[in-house]
Amino acid sequence: MFTFRDLKVPVIQAPMAGGITTPQLVAAVANAGGVGSFGFAYDSSNKIDRQLTKVRKLTTGWVNANFFVFRSTPVQADDLQAKAISALRVLNYAQHEIPKGVREPFFPNLDDQLSPIWQYRPDILTFHLGIPKKSIIEKAKSIGIYVGITATSLQEAQDIQSIGADFIVAQGAEAGGHRGIFDEKSWDQKLSLKKLLIAIKSNIKIPCVGAGGIMDGGHIKHVLSMGASAVQMGTAFVCCHESGASQSYKQYLLTKKNRKVVFTKSFSGRFAKGLQNEFVRMMEGKATLAFPSQNSLTSGLRNYAATSGNGEYQSLWAGDGFSRARQISAKNLVSILQKEISSNDG
Ligand SMILES: Cc1cc2nc3c(=O)[nH]c(=O)nc-3n(C[C@H](O)[C@H](O)[C@H](O)COP(=O)(O)O)c2cc1C
Repeated sequence: MFTFRDLKVPVIQAPMAGGITTPQLVAAVANAGGVGSFGFAYDSSNKIDRQLTKVRKLTTGWVNANFFVFRSTPVQADDLQAKAISALRVLNYAQHEIPKGVREPFFPNLDDQLSPIWQYRPDILTFHLGIPKKSIIEKAKSIGIYVGITATSLQEAQDIQSIGADFIVAQGAEAGGHRGIFDEKSWDQKLSLKKLLIAIKSNIKIPCVGAGGIMDGGHIKHVLSMGASAVQMGTAFVCCHESGASQSYKQYLLTKKNRKVVFTKSFSGRFAKGLQNEFVRMMEGKATLAFPSQNSLTSGLRNYAATSGNGEYQSLWAGDGFSRARQISAKNLVSILQKEISSNDG
Protein backbone atom coordinates (compact mmCIF):
# COMPACT_ATOMS: atom_id res chain seq x y z
CA MET A 1 0.00 0.00 0.00
CA PHE A 2 1.17 3.52 -0.78
CA THR A 3 2.74 5.67 1.93
CA PHE A 4 4.44 9.03 1.50
CA ARG A 5 7.54 7.63 3.23
CA ASP A 6 8.12 5.21 0.34
CA LEU A 7 8.27 7.96 -2.29
CA LYS A 8 11.72 8.32 -3.82
CA VAL A 9 10.87 11.88 -4.89
CA PRO A 10 8.11 13.71 -2.93
CA VAL A 11 6.37 14.87 -6.10
CA ILE A 12 2.91 14.03 -7.37
CA GLN A 13 2.45 15.02 -11.01
CA ALA A 14 -1.00 16.58 -10.81
CA PRO A 15 -3.96 14.95 -12.46
CA MET A 16 -4.90 17.15 -15.42
CA ALA A 17 -8.17 16.39 -17.17
CA GLY A 18 -8.54 17.04 -20.87
CA GLY A 19 -5.93 14.77 -22.43
CA ILE A 20 -2.72 16.08 -20.82
CA THR A 21 -2.04 13.11 -18.54
CA THR A 22 -1.19 10.43 -21.11
CA PRO A 23 -0.12 6.95 -19.93
CA GLN A 24 3.39 7.92 -21.10
CA LEU A 25 3.49 10.98 -18.82
CA VAL A 26 2.05 9.11 -15.83
CA ALA A 27 4.47 6.18 -16.31
CA ALA A 28 7.52 8.44 -16.78
CA VAL A 29 6.87 10.20 -13.47
CA ALA A 30 6.11 6.93 -11.67
CA ASN A 31 9.28 5.32 -13.07
CA ALA A 32 11.31 8.32 -11.95
CA GLY A 33 10.18 7.80 -8.34
CA GLY A 34 7.25 10.21 -8.03
CA VAL A 35 3.50 9.64 -8.38
CA GLY A 36 2.01 9.79 -11.88
CA SER A 37 -1.64 10.88 -11.96
CA PHE A 38 -4.43 10.52 -14.49
CA GLY A 39 -7.06 13.25 -14.70
CA PHE A 40 -10.08 11.10 -15.62
CA ALA A 41 -12.79 13.71 -14.90
CA TYR A 42 -14.53 13.64 -18.28
CA ASP A 43 -13.50 10.14 -19.42
CA SER A 44 -15.73 7.12 -20.04
CA SER A 45 -15.11 3.84 -18.21
CA ASN A 46 -13.86 2.30 -21.49
CA LYS A 47 -11.23 4.99 -21.90
CA ILE A 48 -10.21 4.71 -18.25
CA ASP A 49 -9.90 0.94 -18.69
CA ARG A 50 -7.64 1.38 -21.74
CA GLN A 51 -5.44 3.99 -20.05
CA LEU A 52 -4.95 1.87 -16.92
CA THR A 53 -4.15 -1.23 -19.01
CA LYS A 54 -1.57 0.77 -20.93
CA VAL A 55 0.09 2.37 -17.93
CA ARG A 56 0.57 -0.97 -16.20
CA LYS A 57 2.63 -2.13 -19.19
CA LEU A 58 4.86 0.92 -18.78
CA THR A 59 5.42 1.10 -15.03
CA THR A 60 5.14 -0.69 -11.71
CA GLY A 61 5.50 2.67 -9.91
CA TRP A 62 2.91 4.69 -8.00
CA VAL A 63 -0.19 5.62 -10.02
CA ASN A 64 -3.04 7.91 -9.00
CA ALA A 65 -6.48 8.08 -10.65
CA ASN A 66 -8.37 11.34 -10.17
CA PHE A 67 -12.03 12.24 -10.64
CA PHE A 68 -14.23 15.30 -10.29
CA VAL A 69 -17.17 15.17 -7.91
CA PHE A 70 -19.75 16.78 -10.21
CA ARG A 71 -23.07 18.05 -8.91
CA SER A 72 -26.02 17.52 -11.16
CA THR A 73 -26.94 20.71 -12.97
CA PRO A 74 -30.40 20.88 -14.50
CA VAL A 75 -30.47 21.87 -18.17
CA GLN A 76 -30.85 25.64 -18.13
CA ALA A 77 -33.85 27.39 -19.63
CA ASP A 78 -33.83 28.21 -23.34
CA ASP A 79 -33.45 31.96 -22.75
CA LEU A 80 -30.35 31.42 -20.56
CA GLN A 81 -28.91 29.11 -23.17
CA ALA A 82 -29.64 31.66 -25.87
CA LYS A 83 -27.72 34.35 -23.92
CA ALA A 84 -24.69 32.07 -23.38
CA ILE A 85 -24.72 31.06 -27.04
CA SER A 86 -24.95 34.62 -28.31
CA ALA A 87 -21.98 35.58 -26.06
CA LEU A 88 -19.95 32.97 -27.95
CA ARG A 89 -21.29 34.10 -31.33
CA VAL A 90 -20.06 37.65 -30.67
CA LEU A 91 -16.50 36.26 -30.60
CA ASN A 92 -16.86 35.65 -34.31
CA TYR A 93 -14.59 32.62 -34.05
CA ALA A 94 -15.31 29.04 -35.20
CA GLN A 95 -19.04 29.77 -35.51
CA HIS A 96 -19.63 26.28 -36.94
CA GLU A 97 -18.44 24.79 -33.63
CA ILE A 98 -21.00 26.59 -31.48
CA PRO A 99 -23.96 24.29 -30.80
CA LYS A 100 -27.58 25.48 -30.89
CA GLY A 101 -28.03 24.25 -27.34
CA VAL A 102 -26.70 21.75 -24.83
CA ARG A 103 -28.12 18.43 -23.79
CA GLU A 104 -27.47 16.15 -20.82
CA PRO A 105 -25.42 14.27 -19.79
CA PHE A 106 -22.82 16.97 -19.13
CA PHE A 107 -20.55 14.61 -17.25
CA PRO A 108 -20.03 10.86 -16.83
CA ASN A 109 -21.54 8.86 -13.97
CA LEU A 110 -18.95 8.48 -11.21
CA ASP A 111 -19.99 4.92 -10.29
CA ASP A 112 -19.51 3.86 -13.93
CA GLN A 113 -16.16 5.63 -14.11
CA LEU A 114 -14.98 3.85 -10.98
CA SER A 115 -15.68 0.31 -12.23
CA PRO A 116 -12.24 -0.05 -13.88
CA ILE A 117 -10.66 1.38 -10.70
CA TRP A 118 -11.97 -1.53 -8.62
CA GLN A 119 -10.51 -3.90 -11.20
CA TYR A 120 -7.08 -2.32 -11.76
CA ARG A 121 -6.64 -0.87 -8.26
CA PRO A 122 -4.32 2.06 -8.83
CA ASP A 123 -2.30 2.90 -5.70
CA ILE A 124 -4.05 6.21 -5.09
CA LEU A 125 -7.52 7.60 -5.81
CA THR A 126 -8.13 11.34 -5.52
CA PHE A 127 -11.15 13.59 -5.89
CA HIS A 128 -11.48 17.25 -6.85
CA LEU A 129 -14.37 19.76 -6.41
CA GLY A 130 -15.96 17.90 -3.49
CA ILE A 131 -16.29 14.78 -1.37
CA PRO A 132 -17.61 11.58 -2.96
CA LYS A 133 -20.02 9.18 -1.21
CA LYS A 134 -18.53 7.68 1.97
CA SER A 135 -19.11 4.16 0.57
CA ILE A 136 -16.65 4.93 -2.27
CA ILE A 137 -13.95 5.98 0.20
CA GLU A 138 -14.60 2.91 2.36
CA LYS A 139 -14.49 0.57 -0.62
CA ALA A 140 -11.21 2.03 -1.87
CA LYS A 141 -9.60 1.81 1.55
CA SER A 142 -10.82 -1.77 2.06
CA ILE A 143 -8.87 -2.88 -1.01
CA GLY A 144 -5.71 -0.97 -0.14
CA ILE A 145 -6.19 2.15 -2.27
CA TYR A 146 -4.97 5.37 -0.61
CA VAL A 147 -7.58 8.15 -0.87
CA GLY A 148 -7.01 11.91 -1.13
CA ILE A 149 -9.31 14.91 -1.66
CA THR A 150 -8.56 18.55 -2.57
CA ALA A 151 -9.20 21.27 0.01
CA THR A 152 -9.02 25.04 -0.52
CA SER A 153 -9.93 26.00 3.07
CA LEU A 154 -9.58 24.68 6.63
CA GLN A 155 -13.31 23.84 6.75
CA GLU A 156 -12.99 21.66 3.64
CA ALA A 157 -9.90 19.98 5.12
CA GLN A 158 -11.84 19.23 8.31
CA ASP A 159 -14.69 17.69 6.29
CA ILE A 160 -12.18 15.56 4.37
CA GLN A 161 -10.62 14.30 7.59
CA SER A 162 -14.05 13.55 9.09
CA ILE A 163 -15.20 11.46 6.12
CA GLY A 164 -12.16 9.18 6.59
CA ALA A 165 -9.93 10.08 3.62
CA ASP A 166 -6.22 9.29 3.99
CA PHE A 167 -4.82 12.67 2.91
CA ILE A 168 -5.57 16.19 1.80
CA VAL A 169 -4.34 18.00 -1.30
CA ALA A 170 -4.11 21.62 -0.11
CA GLN A 171 -4.67 23.75 -3.20
CA GLY A 172 -3.43 27.32 -2.84
CA ALA A 173 -4.82 30.18 -4.94
CA GLU A 174 -1.60 30.10 -7.00
CA ALA A 175 -2.68 26.81 -8.59
CA GLY A 176 -3.52 26.34 -12.25
CA GLY A 177 -6.73 24.64 -13.36
CA HIS A 178 -10.11 24.50 -11.61
CA ARG A 179 -10.40 25.72 -8.02
CA GLY A 180 -11.23 22.69 -5.93
CA ILE A 181 -13.68 24.64 -3.72
CA PHE A 182 -16.60 22.35 -2.82
CA ASP A 183 -19.40 24.89 -3.15
CA GLU A 184 -18.62 27.20 -6.05
CA LYS A 185 -21.34 29.61 -4.89
CA SER A 186 -19.82 30.09 -1.44
CA TRP A 187 -17.34 32.86 -0.66
CA ASP A 188 -13.84 31.86 -1.76
CA GLN A 189 -11.11 33.26 0.51
CA LYS A 190 -8.52 32.32 -2.15
CA LEU A 191 -5.91 31.44 0.48
CA SER A 192 -2.32 31.24 -0.69
CA LEU A 193 -0.70 27.81 -0.32
CA LYS A 194 1.35 29.12 2.62
CA LYS A 195 -1.69 30.39 4.56
CA LEU A 196 -3.68 27.26 3.78
CA LEU A 197 -0.85 24.97 4.93
CA ILE A 198 -0.42 26.89 8.18
CA ALA A 199 -4.15 26.57 8.92
CA ILE A 200 -4.26 22.89 7.98
CA LYS A 201 -1.09 21.81 9.73
CA SER A 202 -2.17 23.24 13.08
CA ASN A 203 -5.65 21.69 12.97
CA ILE A 204 -5.54 18.49 10.93
CA LYS A 205 -3.90 15.15 11.70
CA ILE A 206 -3.95 13.36 8.33
CA PRO A 207 -1.09 13.98 5.85
CA CYS A 208 -1.29 16.96 3.57
CA VAL A 209 0.14 17.56 0.09
CA GLY A 210 0.86 21.16 -1.02
CA ALA A 211 -0.19 22.41 -4.47
CA GLY A 212 -0.06 25.75 -6.27
CA GLY A 213 2.69 27.59 -8.11
CA ILE A 214 5.46 25.08 -7.31
CA MET A 215 7.98 24.93 -10.15
CA ASP A 216 11.35 23.92 -8.65
CA GLY A 217 13.12 21.94 -5.94
CA GLY A 218 13.82 24.97 -3.75
CA HIS A 219 10.11 25.67 -3.51
CA ILE A 220 9.38 21.98 -2.87
CA LYS A 221 11.82 22.02 0.07
CA HIS A 222 10.08 25.08 1.49
CA VAL A 223 6.64 23.46 1.24
CA LEU A 224 7.94 20.26 2.87
CA SER A 225 9.50 22.34 5.66
CA MET A 226 6.00 23.69 6.38
CA GLY A 227 4.84 20.16 7.13
CA ALA A 228 3.57 18.91 3.77
CA SER A 229 4.23 15.21 3.06
CA ALA A 230 4.74 15.88 -0.67
CA VAL A 231 3.84 18.43 -3.34
CA GLN A 232 1.47 18.21 -6.30
CA MET A 233 2.66 20.02 -9.44
CA GLY A 234 0.57 20.54 -12.58
CA THR A 235 1.83 23.45 -14.67
CA ALA A 236 5.45 22.25 -14.39
CA PHE A 237 4.49 19.08 -16.29
CA VAL A 238 2.30 20.59 -19.04
CA CYS A 239 5.25 21.29 -21.36
CA CYS A 240 6.95 17.92 -20.84
CA HIS A 241 7.47 15.87 -23.99
CA GLU A 242 5.07 13.13 -22.79
CA SER A 243 2.24 15.56 -21.97
CA GLY A 244 -0.79 15.45 -24.26
CA ALA A 245 -1.27 19.25 -24.20
CA SER A 246 -1.53 20.75 -27.69
CA GLN A 247 1.67 22.19 -29.19
CA SER A 248 0.18 25.69 -29.21
CA TYR A 249 -0.74 25.41 -25.50
CA LYS A 250 2.86 24.38 -24.69
CA GLN A 251 4.25 27.17 -26.88
CA TYR A 252 2.10 29.79 -25.15
CA LEU A 253 3.38 28.74 -21.72
CA LEU A 254 6.96 28.70 -22.96
CA THR A 255 6.96 31.97 -24.88
CA LYS A 256 4.17 34.31 -23.66
CA LYS A 257 5.93 34.91 -20.38
CA ASN A 258 4.41 38.33 -19.81
CA ARG A 259 0.82 37.13 -20.00
CA LYS A 260 -1.31 37.49 -16.90
CA VAL A 261 -2.79 34.41 -15.24
CA VAL A 262 -6.41 34.95 -14.29
CA PHE A 263 -9.41 33.10 -12.92
CA THR A 264 -12.18 32.69 -15.48
CA LYS A 265 -15.41 30.74 -15.61
CA SER A 266 -16.02 31.42 -19.29
CA PHE A 267 -14.73 28.06 -20.49
CA SER A 268 -16.49 25.69 -18.10
CA GLY A 269 -18.87 27.68 -15.91
CA ARG A 270 -16.60 27.27 -12.85
CA PHE A 271 -13.56 29.33 -11.86
CA ALA A 272 -10.25 27.99 -13.13
CA LYS A 273 -6.86 29.68 -13.46
CA GLY A 274 -5.01 30.03 -16.75
CA LEU A 275 -3.30 32.39 -19.16
CA GLN A 276 -5.34 35.37 -20.23
CA ASN A 277 -6.11 35.19 -23.95
CA GLU A 278 -8.57 36.73 -26.40
CA PHE A 279 -11.37 34.34 -25.37
CA VAL A 280 -10.97 35.20 -21.69
CA ARG A 281 -10.80 38.95 -22.35
CA MET A 282 -13.78 39.06 -24.69
CA MET A 283 -15.94 36.84 -22.47
CA GLU A 284 -15.36 38.87 -19.31
CA GLY A 285 -18.71 39.65 -17.68
CA LYS A 286 -20.62 37.77 -20.43
CA ALA A 287 -23.36 35.20 -19.79
CA THR A 288 -22.24 31.62 -19.21
CA LEU A 289 -24.09 28.43 -18.37
CA ALA A 290 -23.58 26.61 -15.08
CA PHE A 291 -20.65 24.22 -14.65
CA PRO A 292 -20.15 21.92 -16.42
CA SER A 293 -22.74 22.63 -19.13
CA GLN A 294 -20.69 25.67 -20.25
CA ASN A 295 -17.87 23.18 -20.82
CA SER A 296 -20.11 21.27 -23.23
CA LEU A 297 -21.06 24.53 -24.94
CA THR A 298 -17.43 25.57 -25.56
CA SER A 299 -15.90 22.15 -26.24
CA GLY A 300 -16.21 22.29 -30.06
CA LEU A 301 -14.67 25.75 -30.15
CA ARG A 302 -11.81 24.77 -27.82
CA ASN A 303 -11.05 21.58 -29.73
CA TYR A 304 -11.10 23.45 -33.03
CA ALA A 305 -8.64 26.01 -31.63
CA ALA A 306 -6.36 23.23 -30.36
CA THR A 307 -6.32 21.34 -33.66
CA SER A 308 -5.80 24.50 -35.69
CA GLY A 309 -2.99 25.76 -33.40
CA ASN A 310 -4.80 28.84 -32.08
CA GLY A 311 -3.81 29.56 -28.48
CA GLU A 312 -6.23 32.48 -28.19
CA TYR A 313 -9.33 30.26 -27.98
CA GLN A 314 -8.11 27.33 -25.89
CA SER A 315 -8.26 27.02 -22.13
CA LEU A 316 -4.57 27.47 -21.26
CA TRP A 317 -4.78 26.35 -17.62
CA ALA A 318 -1.66 27.38 -15.74
CA GLY A 319 -0.58 28.45 -12.27
CA ASP A 320 1.27 31.56 -11.11
CA GLY A 321 4.70 30.01 -11.83
CA PHE A 322 4.03 29.19 -15.49
CA SER A 323 6.85 31.37 -16.85
CA ARG A 324 9.33 28.88 -15.36
CA ALA A 325 7.89 25.85 -17.20
CA ARG A 326 10.60 23.68 -18.76
CA GLN A 327 10.37 21.85 -22.06
CA ILE A 328 12.04 18.57 -21.17
CA SER A 329 11.08 14.94 -20.61
CA ALA A 330 9.15 14.14 -17.44
CA LYS A 331 11.93 11.75 -16.43
CA ASN A 332 14.43 14.60 -16.65
CA LEU A 333 12.16 17.03 -14.85
CA VAL A 334 11.70 14.68 -11.89
CA SER A 335 15.42 13.99 -11.73
CA ILE A 336 16.25 17.73 -11.82
CA LEU A 337 13.67 18.38 -9.08
CA GLN A 338 15.24 15.60 -7.01
CA LYS A 339 18.69 17.16 -7.38
CA GLU A 340 17.34 20.62 -6.53
CA ILE A 341 15.66 19.21 -3.42
CA SER A 342 18.87 17.60 -2.20
CA SER A 343 21.08 20.59 -2.99
CA ASN A 344 22.03 22.75 -0.01
CA ASP A 345 21.28 26.06 -1.69
CA GLY A 346 18.20 28.06 -0.97
C1 LIG B 1 -3.93 21.95 -16.94
C2 LIG B 1 -4.40 21.63 -15.56
C3 LIG B 1 -5.45 20.74 -15.39
C4 LIG B 1 -5.85 20.37 -14.10
N1 LIG B 1 -6.81 19.40 -13.95
C5 LIG B 1 -7.05 18.87 -12.71
C6 LIG B 1 -7.82 17.70 -12.55
O1 LIG B 1 -8.34 17.13 -13.51
N2 LIG B 1 -7.99 17.23 -11.30
C7 LIG B 1 -7.41 17.81 -10.19
O2 LIG B 1 -7.57 17.33 -9.07
N3 LIG B 1 -6.67 18.93 -10.33
C8 LIG B 1 -6.45 19.46 -11.54
N4 LIG B 1 -5.65 20.55 -11.69
C9 LIG B 1 -5.12 21.23 -10.47
C10 LIG B 1 -3.90 20.51 -9.90
O3 LIG B 1 -4.29 19.36 -9.20
C11 LIG B 1 -3.09 21.38 -8.94
O4 LIG B 1 -3.91 21.91 -7.96
C12 LIG B 1 -2.37 22.51 -9.67
O5 LIG B 1 -1.81 22.07 -10.87
C13 LIG B 1 -1.26 23.05 -8.79
O6 LIG B 1 -0.81 24.28 -9.29
P1 LIG B 1 0.31 24.42 -10.41
O7 LIG B 1 -0.39 24.14 -11.69
O8 LIG B 1 0.78 25.81 -10.27
O9 LIG B 1 1.37 23.38 -10.13
C14 LIG B 1 -5.22 20.96 -12.97
C15 LIG B 1 -4.19 21.88 -13.17
C16 LIG B 1 -3.77 22.21 -14.44
C17 LIG B 1 -2.63 23.18 -14.60
